[in-house]
Amino acid sequence: MDSKVIRAKFLEFFNSKSHKIVPSAPIVVQNDPTLMFTNAGMNQFKDYFLGNKTPEANRVADTQKCLRVSGKHNDLEEVGLDTYHHTMFEMLGNWSFGDYFKKEAIEWAWEFLTEVCELPADRMYATVFEGDASEGLESDEEARSYWKGLIPEERILNGNKKDNFWEMGDTGPCGPCSEIHIDLRPDEDVAKQSGKELVNQDHPQVVEIWNLVFMQFNRLADGSLKNLPAQHVDTGMGFERLAMAVQKKQSNYDTDVFQPTIKAIAAKAGVTYGNDEKIDIAIRVISDHIRAISFTIADGQLPGNAKAGYVIRRILRRAVRYGYTFLDFKEPFLTELVPLLADQFKEVFPELDAQKSFVAKVIREEEVAFLRTLDKGLKRFETIKAETEGKVIDGKVVFELYDTYGFPLDLTSLIARENGLSINENEFKEEMAKQKERSKSAAQQSTGDWIVIQEAELPVFLGYEHLVSQSKITRYRGVKQRNKSFYQIVLDQTPFYAESGGQVGDTGVLVNGDDKVAIFDTKKENDLIVHYANELPKNIEAEFTAQVNVTKRLLTENNHSATHLLHAALREVLGDHVQQKGSLVNEKALRFDFSHFAKVTDEELAKIESIVNKKIRENIKLEEKRNVPIEDAKSMGAMALFGEKYGEFVRVITFDKAYSVELCGGTHVPATGQIGLLKITSESSVAAGVRRIEAITADKAEAYVDEELTLLNEIKELLKSPKDPKKAIEALIEEKNQLQKKIDELNQQQGSALKTDLMKSTQEVNGISLITQVVNVPDANVLKQLSFELKNEVPNLLAVLAANLNEKPMLSVIMDDKLVQEHGLNAGEMVRAMAKEIQGGGGGQPFYATAGGKDVAGLAKALEVGKQLLEDKLNIEIK
Ligand code: SER
Repeated sequence: MDSKVIRAKFLEFFNSKSHKIVPSAPIVVQNDPTLMFTNAGMNQFKDYFLGNKTPEANRVADTQKCLRVSGKHNDLEEVGLDTYHHTMFEMLGNWSFGDYFKKEAIEWAWEFLTEVCELPADRMYATVFEGDASEGLESDEEARSYWKGLIPEERILNGNKKDNFWEMGDTGPCGPCSEIHIDLRPDEDVAKQSGKELVNQDHPQVVEIWNLVFMQFNRLADGSLKNLPAQHVDTGMGFERLAMAVQKKQSNYDTDVFQPTIKAIAAKAGVTYGNDEKIDIAIRVISDHIRAISFTIADGQLPGNAKAGYVIRRILRRAVRYGYTFLDFKEPFLTELVPLLADQFKEVFPELDAQKSFVAKVIREEEVAFLRTLDKGLKRFETIKAETEGKVIDGKVVFELYDTYGFPLDLTSLIARENGLSINENEFKEEMAKQKERSKSAAQQSTGDWIVIQEAELPVFLGYEHLVSQSKITRYRGVKQRNKSFYQIVLDQTPFYAESGGQVGDTGVLVNGDDKVAIFDTKKENDLIVHYANELPKNIEAEFTAQVNVTKRLLTENNHSATHLLHAALREVLGDHVQQKGSLVNEKALRFDFSHFAKVTDEELAKIESIVNKKIRENIKLEEKRNVPIEDAKSMGAMALFGEKYGEFVRVITFDKAYSVELCGGTHVPATGQIGLLKITSESSVAAGVRRIEAITADKAEAYVDEELTLLNEIKELLKSPKDPKKAIEALIEEKNQLQKKIDELNQQQGSALKTDLMKSTQEVNGISLITQVVNVPDANVLKQLSFELKNEVPNLLAVLAANLNEKPMLSVIMDDKLVQEHGLNAGEMVRAMAKEIQGGGGGQPFYATAGGKDVAGLAKALEVGKQLLEDKLNIEIK
């Protein structure tokens, strides 16, 4: 079975057991402060487990793109060195939300593996949770009893909390689990040692393939476990490992999931995979990392300097360095692998294929940038290595590699390991903390547990129709940041819009008589609407009037609707490749990032702006449709964004169905006329292949136009040319150029007259033509030019000149080269001595030197010093 068949069989199997097949959630997590990336199939269902939300179906299955490179589940260090861990992998999963439990989960898993995949039953082991006294948890006898009905008891093994109690993160849903491990070793090895001894021992051919989690608890911030409202099943099977088992391979990389990429890398490097461990590791790392990088960028996360963006940059740089050092790739190479991957996954994850040139471009730019410093950084590493006494590299130099050469910590640590060294990580972290302190980066926040006032489902959002509601608090909690603390409050129903889809969260107040609390922001946490306040109301159980700040909301709506109009205009003018890559909409302005490969020209901007303003004047009525089946929405031509998670039913916002149809949860103007006017204020680049437009609307746009017009009027006034200021300015510029030309000519004339005078003043002393004068020149250049012309025209010249340039003293000494050699004279030495008299300094070459200073009154004295020096040195007398 090739991997596509295996994936399809899994979904078919669970579909036959009444599971609804759902799409993978994006790999980049939004609205969950506990996670950066999807690290398990269950993430997108977290609210179902917690009881915050009722699922649309209680049996679900899918294949989920997961990334395990940060937080609680982090496999990055193993990737490539071994043959069965990955940064990005597909997790095949089936779920029961309060429906079936351990029996079916275990029996179906076994049926799928043994009957559909025909994996050898006698090579598989099951582990069950042995209990944990410190948590007060008993051993999982229920799971054991079901396994006993399927496999001999000696193949049922006990597992501790580390291996058999699964948790999503530091907090969140969790429960005991039962894992299925498979022994893929050759028969002769199996005969020598039982696979039982190798389960959970990091053996590359005795690996876990499926984890069946029985979700029963919620881990709270205080560390305790709380029973979930219902019991659920969450299973996760490593797709790449399953492919290895079904295809009877020894390594995930030998399956058809990775082989096409591996072959392409090997061919490019001119090597064969499987001959040399160092080269093989590099090839495995690259074939793994390119998947993580490509799919994450396709889901909307660009590489960057902080948070999720930096994780992607780190992975990318790790891959670049492996290619550079072990495969001799000195030019961008990752970018070339994108089309291959896009094609391989286009049926299951079409988002990459749809954006392959954009993704390839982003990767290319990142590669180019890192390749610029990589070589220097590696050389610096060599000197560091030579300077390191002992085995541990100083944290300060690790930081230098990070800060100056862009080496992520894990990359330096890896290179150090390859060289038999380690790094002082604590010291590095101290340096990092100091830098953070310097740049005052975002403070860490710690969140307390929810204090539940009344059990409730997700809050009802009333804010599409209402800006005021009568509401009760259902739960709240305290949050501490470094130097401030605040509260998060959830209401049973609320008119407050929670920040999402680029639109900022509402502000406003909760009022109960005199008890008034300001809400300074509203955000989503998964599907909860969370209100932020600096204090709690006195009577937390009362009913409140929840009132949104209307002015701010309405201005924000102008900008949000204008963003839709702009998006459509961009596609009309620039083309269909324009995809939204980011958006920020608040009461002041709108910012829209989109994929496009060139600067948007002024003509294009004018056209875009004009289309939007025409649509505003048409006063198109908002058509808002809720609960539209996603397929219907797509056939209406609605633009769905990559990296956005849509449910089965969506909200569709239309302004003229032939013009702008978008899937959107935001709030909008009732008709476009309210926007008034749109003015684009800037167009710029934010990243490779991503442009940014900033614009303003309504009163802000009017004020902007007014300011520009006022400025123009002032200019007209100054120019005394009300009709054609442009022409007047052009005339002024022309006039200025003419005048400059005249000045240059005059300077030149003055210079040559001066030169003639100076030549006349020449004294002949001992065969030297000596000129010592205070001269009147306009600037330093003229003085220099004069000096050199004298040198060219007067044989055996020695000229010592002093000038007052707009109250700045300047000295120049120039002489025939012969004088330097024959008399040992040095212009540099001379000006330095003379410059003391003008409170300055200078230098130059032995035949020509200049000095500047502060005190013009000292010029004559400086000249005297010069003369004196010459008299002493040459034993002459100067008149
Ligand atoms: N959540 C479990 C895991 O990630 C099973 O899906 O392993």
